Amino acid sequence: MTRPRVLSGIRPTGESFQLGNYVGAVRHWAAMQDENECFFFLADLHALTETPQPDALRRRTRESVAELLAMGVDPARSTVFAQSHIPEHPELAWVLGCLTGFGEASRMTQFKEKGGGTVGLFYYPVLQAADILMYQANAVPIGEDQRQHLELTRDVAARFNGRYGETFTLPGAYAGKPGERIKDLQDPARKMSKTIGGSGTVWVLDEPAVVTKKVKSAVTDTGREVRVSDDKPGITNLLTILSVATGKAVPELEAAYAGKGYGDFKADVAEAVVEMFAATRARYVELIADPAYLDEVLAAGAATAGAVARTTMTTVRERIGLLAPKP
Ligand code: TYM
Repeated sequence: MTRPRVLSGIRPTGESFQLGNYVGAVRHWAAMQDENECFFFLADLHALTETPQPDALRRRTRESVAELLAMGVDPARSTVFAQSHIPEHPELAWVLGCLTGFGEASRMTQFKEKGGGTVGLFYYPVLQAADILMYQANAVPIGEDQRQHLELTRDVAARFNGRYGETFTLPGAYAGKPGERIKDLQDPARKMSKTIGGSGTVWVLDEPAVVTKKVKSAVTDTGREVRVSDDKPGITNLLTILSVATGKAVPELEAAYAGKGYGDFKADVAEAVVEMFAATRARYVELIADPAYLDEVLAAGAATAGAVARTTMTTVRERIGLLAPKP
């Protein structure tokens, strides 16, 4: 029996990956590797929308491989690759862009929130659709902030199939659990993000003392009660984090902190986060010391991913009516 295909990507930006990337995405990737055929990639072309320094992008791409592996992605079981190593991605994005409405793309909140910007940022979700459809993915483990991009992908895939015949697998709808959207520690009204960084973002590779300082200075709410509530976004966020880090359900944690103040609670959250990333930090140090190995992982990943991508594109080119070059 063939296993379901899983695909997801992450941009190699920021100082390292952050807590939200782990909670909303990468820990699920690691957990899905046995029962699925997984493709995980570094979205270096998507990273270009932030116009990183060339050397920094190259360095972050390699570091990102080490981080993914340190967080439990296993290249023996999953295909790990860099998006730019597979030139079929932007090619398919062009094709899909010709089936995407201008209005449809304009409604993407990630684009709207940034207040416009480059054509690249506008095209970002179309390239993401190409990433997903290229591999005929059944499931796409992503954070809640990417839900709209997945819906666009499904719409465009259905449109392509309707026009040119069944070609793409429609990926399943967003399957994340509620409460996995991690907020910025300094501003719990917005998501924690690599792009924003600062003391509201916990980097996966932060030193324990830095994690502790960031968590202890997280913005909390008025009152003393440790419980989930709309008017307690800071405490709610810390409860989510503690729940993920300890594996304990939120109501259980609320009961455990009844009558205790924010101080004890924050100290425990800090300790749990440090503990959650301790093994990752240790493995990262070993992995980053061997860049040749990291490059080999990407090369093997590109070979596997490239074969799938070429097959998809041969079909796509034929379906849409591009004249095949004479062999
Ligand atoms: P990126 O690098 O911004 O985020 C990587 C993953 O982390 C999730 N995430 C979060 N989850 C919970 N709370 C947060 N605060 C938080 N911040 C980030 C994101 O939802 C994402 O799953 N556009 C993608 C990269 C991409 C991609 C793809 C993903 C490009 N092509 C194809 C899946 C399939 C992104 O936002 O990456």
